[in-house]
Amino acid sequence: MSINPQVLSLTKSATLKITALTKQIKREGKDVVNFAAGEPDFDTPDFIKTAAKKAIDQGFTKYTPSSGDNRLREAIANKLKINNGILADKENIIVTSGAKYAIFIALLSLLSDGDEVLIPLPYWVSYPEMVKLTSAKVKFIELAEQNNFKLTPKLLEESITDKTKVLIFNYPNNPTGITYNKKELREISEIIKGANIHVISDEIYEVLVYDKKSHISFASLDSMQDKTLTVGGFSKSFAMTGWRVGYLAANKDLVKEISKIVGHTTSCPCSVSQAAALAALEDTEWQAQISLKFEERRDLLYKGLGDIPKIKPLKPEGTFYMFCDISQTGLTSFDFCSRLLEEELVSCIPASSFGKEGYIRVSFSTSLEQINKGINRIDSFIRQL
Ligand SMILES: Cc1ncc(COP(=O)(O)O)c(C=O)c1O
Repeated sequence: MSINPQVLSLTKSATLKITALTKQIKREGKDVVNFAAGEPDFDTPDFIKTAAKKAIDQGFTKYTPSSGDNRLREAIANKLKINNGILADKENIIVTSGAKYAIFIALLSLLSDGDEVLIPLPYWVSYPEMVKLTSAKVKFIELAEQNNFKLTPKLLEESITDKTKVLIFNYPNNPTGITYNKKELREISEIIKGANIHVISDEIYEVLVYDKKSHISFASLDSMQDKTLTVGGFSKSFAMTGWRVGYLAANKDLVKEISKIVGHTTSCPCSVSQAAALAALEDTEWQAQISLKFEERRDLLYKGLGDIPKIKPLKPEGTFYMFCDISQTGLTSFDFCSRLLEEELVSCIPASSFGKEGYIRVSFSTSLEQINKGINRIDSFIRQL
């Protein structure tokens, strides 16, 4: 059978191998501490489920416009105006089947043959794979550990060539957990101002920012609105990973073009999930509570891992991921994670999946009790090495 070489070039990540191994061990009835999760452990709140049930009963079960139900587009535009300082109307918004699809169609709409896409490394696993499915090429920007894996104006400037078309920028960041303050973002925007490129700003973790800091959207910075395609969603903010609702906020003309891609591929996002997302936006109380819970978990995990020899955790400023340097153990990140899972029943993600060796990603999307158990098991694993 002849399969498209672009598809054949996609990698099956180490993340999947570890996840499969975790499931197998769980099936054997063993008590695994799951530090590998990429989704909130909370259930979708009841008020959201109720709105979805009502939508089904009222027959909101047909195709919606390709760019999404107009009430939801309007509500997202309002949220972006009020919370994010982005001047958006509903025509700037396209609702998508998850934020992942928003990123993919953004790339598809912008890229042609010979273009280059800048991806800071460590990166979220799907970015390079999505670019492989377009006709463009990936160029990684290796971020320095000494600078907490933050993109600097200098690194960005050095990476831009006349082929560069897009920068994929993600903060709060998966996998490092870091985010950016206004000064840092302004400095990056100064470089973008002088270059003929677009920024796909993946802000899916925007509500999970700690230490009383707040999230600043890239499109809200001076002159960045038209150069930025903001990606957001409901998966992480409202524990709605399975509902598949995300969105893209971009220039109105671009949104019109992108909606053609949706119209010919998925038609539209699921109508019932859109009704649920509309209800979600009416409540901000739930998010504030969840964010505080994650912060408490972060503090517990950071203190616990910090006390273990040979592990250096980077304190997350957002998300539910902690990036930990394990290079002193002498193990590769994959060997570290598979041995930790087999010997101590703790599952983590090797950072080789994110393009970086010598690190692991520890998710604190689990209870305080599980976090304590996981810390003790990692401690025992390290001491026996
Ligand atoms: C950085 C980042 N962007 C986008 C997504 C995709 O989110 P969604 O579930 O809305 O497709 C994820 C999910 O893990 C993510 O970590």
